[in-house]
Amino acid sequence: MSNNHFYNRDIISIKDFTKEDLEFIFSATNKISSLRPNEKSEFGKGRTLGYIFYEPSTRTRMSFESAMASLGGISIGIFDPKSSSIEKGESLADTIRTMDLYSDIIVLRHPLDGSSRFASELSNNPIINAGSGSEEHPTQAMLDLYTIMKEKNKIDGLSIGVIGDLKYGRTVYSLLYGLANYNVDIHLISPSTLRIRRESIYDVQDKLNIYEYSQIEDVLDKLDVIYVTRIQRERFPDLQEYEKVKGTYTIDDSILSKAKPNVSIMHPMPRTEEISHSIDGTKNAIYFKQAAYGKELRSALLALVLNENPI
Ligand code: NCD
Repeated sequence: MSNNHFYNRDIISIKDFTKEDLEFIFSATNKISSLRPNEKSEFGKGRTLGYIFYEPSTRTRMSFESAMASLGGISIGIFDPKSSSIEKGESLADTIRTMDLYSDIIVLRHPLDGSSRFASELSNNPIINAGSGSEEHPTQAMLDLYTIMKEKNKIDGLSIGVIGDLKYGRTVYSLLYGLANYNVDIHLISPSTLRIRRESIYDVQDKLNIYEYSQIEDVLDKLDVIYVTRIQRERFPDLQEYEKVKGTYTIDDSILSKAKPNVSIMHPMPRTEEISHSIDGTKNAIYFKQAAYGKELRSALLALVLNENPI
């Protein structure tokens, strides 16, 4: 019996995975990263990844595509709905059914909560949720946790600050659900209108020590990790509300100088004005490393979903 709980499985919510599953994928990521290209290229040979992106993406789509290529497979897909039959009015259901005919695994990003779960009910092949509205982005959280593990050598015992748009940022929810498996202090920093959605963290809040602030200065000297997020302009029902909170936080040299010397600054990217370019060259800025780990983790994930006993 294989202990690979990812084989042939949909990746819809990080809540569907145990701590053991997460640690299994982290160790698979370490193993796959150490393989030679010709060894890696066994896991996806002859297989096709189909992506469907109803929303913009840079890292998620490219890292999945690059990961699939490193496994010897190919990727096909839609990243500009206007160039596909979606523009003619084709439904999500028919688009998924069609991609299911042409691929072995589907990576979906869609503006509606629940979209990936819905797709998984229609598709015979596994669905990977690459962002469902403001609900979840589970593979981002897996790579975020992997990044923390690699950079800090542990997750337990850390004080993790999450700053920015905690209301609409889907990466925040998946990250919190993932962190609920560990013993961490979570410090949430946001304007009052962008606080975490209570109902969404209901089932994990008992497992985490959560503290909330509106100013980062109130907690800065405690933080081992600062996870910065973009204010999600496109998800505001009223753009005047966005204008009020836009530019509220910027992690810059002055903030960094008051933080712990070894603090790690993370960001799922894209960054707009919430991280000053002046800190990009510091040892604390690990957001590009995080994007690089993303390709490695997604390679391991694809290898595990596509093969019963890959590594
Ligand atoms: C994020 C997303 O799409 O949720 N991007 C990503 O996948 N790394 C974050 C964002 O758009 O702000």
